[in-house]
Amino acid sequence: IEPIRKICCIGAGYVGGPTMAMIAKQCPDIEVKVVDINEARIAQWNSDELPIYEPGLDDVVTESRGRNLHFSTDVDQAIADAQMIFISVNTPTKHFGVGAGRAANLEFIEKCARKIAEVAQGHKIVVEKSTLPVRTAEAVKAILAGASSGATFDVLSNPEFLAEGTAVEDLIAPDRVLIGGESKEAVDALVDVYAHWVPRERLLTTNLWSSELSKLTANAFLAQRVSSINSISALCEATEADVDEVAMAIGMDSRIGPKFLKSSVGFGGSCFQKDILNLVYLCEYFGLPEVAEYWEQVVKMNDYQKTRFVNRIVRTLFNTVSDKKIGIWGFAFKKDTNDTRESAAIYICRDLLRERAKLSIYDPRVDPSQIRRDLADVMRNGDAELSAASEKLIAENVEIVTDIDAASKDAHAIAVLTEWDEFVDADFERIHNNMKKPAFIFDGRNILKNLPLADMGFIYQGIGFSR
Ligand code: NAI
Repeated sequence: IEPIRKICCIGAGYVGGPTMAMIAKQCPDIEVKVVDINEARIAQWNSDELPIYEPGLDDVVTESRGRNLHFSTDVDQAIADAQMIFISVNTPTKHFGVGAGRAANLEFIEKCARKIAEVAQGHKIVVEKSTLPVRTAEAVKAILAGASSGATFDVLSNPEFLAEGTAVEDLIAPDRVLIGGESKEAVDALVDVYAHWVPRERLLTTNLWSSELSKLTANAFLAQRVSSINSISALCEATEADVDEVAMAIGMDSRIGPKFLKSSVGFGGSCFQKDILNLVYLCEYFGLPEVAEYWEQVVKMNDYQKTRFVNRIVRTLFNTVSDKKIGIWGFAFKKDTNDTRESAAIYICRDLLRERAKLSIYDPRVDPSQIRRDLADVMRNGDAELSAASEKLIAENVEIVTDIDAASKDAHAIAVLTEWDEFVDADFERIHNNMKKPAFIFDGRNILKNLPLADMGFIYQGIGFSR
């Protein structure tokens, strides 16, 4: 196998875009082409307004774009030209047919494999970058084996461990890069790409199946820590223990470690829930119902945490939020991203709307049309007939505003749903003056806990402690 000089990546999303921009930055000797069937997205990647917000990403992209980094909709040409083809398309939870609500929908992966089989000539290394159920490479290989041109393929698994909000940092200095494969030459070719900037001891090679399964397992373990501390937060509220103190105390045990022990309104993001459900489905598929049930509990606990938060708001506001304005601070699933997929805010807002509250939503990075779309989707819940009704309900009860003052004016309560730094710096005296009294703050991220809010007259509640 020749040294890699031409790479293409199918899928210009949250993973494909930043990952390929980093490869292009670190490997000036490699031509990187990122392709997507979504023309609007490609146009944005070629503009000054990138389709995704990540700290530091603009600089990484502009450094290489037009030099050795290109964004295009010409998928066929990019496949034909490349020696190595990354597949980085979305793998959402399937919502129809067998495995609905659990299994990953692999139709986009399969379409990519078929496209590669159709277009490729000579030898290609196909790299699974998307998060996939263990054994997917078997299907990919079977499809590629049907290539009409007689092209030959190696298939590698190279799951991505970046976290949104810190994608650039994570890509520059990854804890590890995982590469699974059968052919040593193909594995080495990909190792050489990453070795341009990642220390060799962080390049971990395994068999294909371990690599595929490790990504699901990593996300399951991370989410499990959040659900574990969130389960304890409920007990803290009932007992005058403080979950942040408990987290600190257990986290200092080096066997447990301090990270990912922050109690909150619940995890969100496109990956955790989908990947755990996928793991649950796989366990059932392979005849392991006890294992499936064990992991499913992580998702159930996360749903419980969101419901609990809403119930507490309603209870505290004298058992009714009907017709009351509630200021929603933050809609993204975490800070420093504009991504709202599976954001806890979506479900909290849904449940508050069902209680007939009036919502005034502010997020510094999320596009208002995205918020409206997310709320319409969740209210409709797959029922097309409810479209008009949910849009009407949202039009009448939701406003999306451009700062926290507007979100808080005349509000009965504020719900902090994303941990944006700017929320901590708010002028709380002014906000209190402009709110209805008593003025409540429900802090779903415990970011305002150390401010003297009670002294200012607020009734303040966070997650996992009682005051
Ligand atoms: P995304 O939805 O942002 O991007 C996927 C892109 O693939 C879309 O732009 C879509 O138009 C394109 N696409 C779909 N089918 C295509 C086809 N047949 N030909 C060309 N383009 C096609 O998804 P995201 O977030 O980048 O995730 C991609 C994969 O990476 C998923 O499997 C996800 O689980 C995984 N992952 C995501 C992480 C994240 O933080 N978002 C982190 C690590 C892994």
